[in-house]
Amino acid sequence: MKIKNMKFGTKAIHAGVEPDPATGAIMTPIYQTTTYVQEKVGQHKGYAYSRTLNPTRHTLEKALAELENAKYGACFGSGLAAIDCVMKMLKPGDEVITTNDLYGGSYRIFTGIFEQFGIKFHFVNMNSLETVKTKINDNTKLIWAETPTNPMMNIIDIEALAKIAKENNVLLGVDNTFATPYLQNPMDLGADIVMHSVTKYLGGHSDVVMGALVTSNKEIADEIYRIQNSSGGITGPMDSFLVLRGLKTLHLRMQRHCENGEKVAFFLKDHPKIENVYWPGFENHPNHEIAKKQMRGFGGMISFSLKGNQMSEAHAIMEKFKVFSLAESLGGVESLTCHPATMTHAAIPPNDREASGIVDSLIRLSIGVEDAEDLINDLKQALA
Ligand SMILES: Cc1ncc(COP(=O)(O)O)c(C=O)c1O
Repeated sequence: MKIKNMKFGTKAIHAGVEPDPATGAIMTPIYQTTTYVQEKVGQHKGYAYSRTLNPTRHTLEKALAELENAKYGACFGSGLAAIDCVMKMLKPGDEVITTNDLYGGSYRIFTGIFEQFGIKFHFVNMNSLETVKTKINDNTKLIWAETPTNPMMNIIDIEALAKIAKENNVLLGVDNTFATPYLQNPMDLGADIVMHSVTKYLGGHSDVVMGALVTSNKEIADEIYRIQNSSGGITGPMDSFLVLRGLKTLHLRMQRHCENGEKVAFFLKDHPKIENVYWPGFENHPNHEIAKKQMRGFGGMISFSLKGNQMSEAHAIMEKFKVFSLAESLGGVESLTCHPATMTHAAIPPNDREASGIVDSLIRLSIGVEDAEDLINDLKQALA
């Protein structure tokens, strides 16, 4: 039986990985080499130079493609380097429609780097698919969606978006960082490209910065590999090894992230100091039905705002945490907290930021895999 037909837990452990052909090592070795000896000019074993392809990275690229039910994978030095590769598939004059509350760094690379090369970005609220349709014109080449969105936890209907993209001959790319392939497979819903900040849940241990793209379209894959090799934003063999190790527990970690996320979300919901809690598992979350349709769980990312909306109060609470660490990033085994307005989303102009709900008192939590009771007690004392 092929691994790709097996259940997710089996795939997480075995996808892409074969015993090392040279030694039988069950873990793919860290091929810490730049080059490969050729038997004759141009005759080699598939590897010529490690920017182009490295065996450890190659195994990881195959593993990530299999986990996302895609045919081809490519890994990069960061999530943003993966997005950079997608944008380099475009030409001056091309237009992109994207989410208005996407990760601040994605906003920064779009507006700060690619706008100056003549690519136009439309930031829209993708809860309304009608708004997406109104922005499509002959120059539109790509719809780029993040779901759940960072940090507002909006859920975008990938299948409906894919339909719009196909009808208009536009590519659909989905940033699947928050959900991971454990919770959601955008390729199965019609996406052309799926992107990950591997730095987060896929690596899972806060020790690697990496990005990935997967696709099942050969033409897109060839273009990705051409840009990966030409621009050189690759990841190294040591980091590839660490992520291969991290992937083996992705299902176990995600299960716990989801269980803890649910307990913490319900605790916050009833707290008298809290104004709003954003978590797609609540029945009254505006996109709960879409989340139920396209995700297999609701994840461990939660944002909440405070009554009175004072930034100083949000900062004071975050400084009182004992188990949660005040830090950028998310998706590691340890629980983290961040203040989007001044940290992850500081690159977004204040008016645009507030319009998408990233208010001054908004606090984002990445719920780790500690014991939920300790996390709730930590929140209790910090909010007291
Ligand atoms: C949703 C999302 N996409 C992309 C990125 C960028 O990834 P990286 O930090 O690995 O470059 C992040 C980083 O926080 C993210 O949260």
